[in-house]
Amino acid sequence: MKYRKFGSLDWEVSALGFGAMRLPVMEDDRNKINEPEAFAMMRLAIDAGVNYLDTAYPYHQQQSEGLVGKVLKDGYRDKVKLATKMPCWLVKEASDFDLYLEKQMKRLEVDQIDFYLLHSLNQSTWQTVKDLGVLDWAEKRMAEGLFTHLGFSFHDDYPVFEEIVTGYDNWTLAQIQYNYMDIDYQAGRKGLLLASDRGLAVVVMEPLRGGRIANNPPPAPVARVFETSERNWTPAAWAFQWLWDQPQVATTLSGMSTMDQVQENLATASESGVGSLTDDDRALIEKVREAYSSLAPIPCTQCEYCLPCPNGVAIPRVFSIYNDAVSYDTWGHAKWAYNNQLKADEMADNCIECGECEIVCPQHIEIIDWLARVHEALAQPAE
Ligand SMILES: NC(=O)c1ccc[n+]([C@@H]2O[C@H](COP(=O)([O-])OP(=O)(O)OC[C@H]3O[C@@H](n4cnc5c(N)ncnc54)[C@H](OP(=O)(O)O)[C@@H]3O)[C@@H](O)[C@H]2O)c1
Repeated sequence: MKYRKFGSLDWEVSALGFGAMRLPVMEDDRNKINEPEAFAMMRLAIDAGVNYLDTAYPYHQQQSEGLVGKVLKDGYRDKVKLATKMPCWLVKEASDFDLYLEKQMKRLEVDQIDFYLLHSLNQSTWQTVKDLGVLDWAEKRMAEGLFTHLGFSFHDDYPVFEEIVTGYDNWTLAQIQYNYMDIDYQAGRKGLLLASDRGLAVVVMEPLRGGRIANNPPPAPVARVFETSERNWTPAAWAFQWLWDQPQVATTLSGMSTMDQVQENLATASESGVGSLTDDDRALIEKVREAYSSLAPIPCTQCEYCLPCPNGVAIPRVFSIYNDAVSYDTWGHAKWAYNNQLKADEMADNCIECGECEIVCPQHIEIIDWLARVHEALAQPAE
């Protein structure tokens, strides 16, 4: 295993961290973790030098923390730093902070958490927890020794990230979605640089875009780019090495779902290092990004000129979900995202065909027509 700088802390983190969010399950049911297999995978990773374990209150229908607690028995607690997260979207009043922390420590069977993160911060959850005094509360609990460091994970646009990072001086870490397709998405590369400049350890989540850029074989235009390199790397290895090449990345979490993936990612991590890619390698990743982007049928650049839609349709998000489905061949996930992540009035069938969006779209996209096609492809029939 290779180890890396962890922000301003006098401690080195393994290049690969284990994310306990996509553990192997039985009968395709996230409720039913295949415990013996998941246990063996996490212990194997720790034995191979992984020293960062990431879980959270809701993972696997609230069963992940309990299993992580079992993995950490028999002396394994001392071999890793443990990160878990407060479910900020469930917090209604200040007393909820203690309620969740106590519940989580009980599940994990630990008397101290190393990294406690405010989970999935966005503009609205940050405002709520800040107004309820989460920072003062966290400082008290750290002074009492219940957790050692405070961080947050993030899902919103860059300006919100900047507001959070600069809004408190004692963050130890920030967890962001970052991979070679998401350099301008959410915190993005700009957020990585900002956080790292301020001494935060940046923990990367979704390094493989939730598995979407790990397809083997990848779609033909992408495969053709990879074939131009003499490196014998899988698409997953390319994605990880691209991250580990960057000094601002502390650790890269992987939500591994099989023992083979654990073994492959451990082997990849053992060959990683800052500055280990050549200029040709970096140029190849740029071409891979272009190849994936060329697969997207709707030429939407997410510029948002079309917003606000007079009837509330979330046009860029609708198009992004559809483009991802085509580019990565992930229709199941896209249907789930379309029907569950969008509010009913943001969905494409709310288009009243006023055409205001088409007048301003710099890409001259036939938005009305595409909205109808996307809705037909992704909407679940009413029950
Ligand atoms: N705080 C937050 O808001 C938040 C959000 C997301 C994630 N996270 C954390 O960050 C961790 C990492 O994110 P992630 O799980 O999305 O990571 P990821 O690495 O982008 O995706 C994991 C998926 O990639 C595939 N995979 C992994 N290794 C592979 C390999 N060697 N070859 C081929 N496919 C491979 C597997 O998918 P298959 O199912 O295709 O096998 C696996 O389930 C999570 O586990 C979680 O702990 C936090």
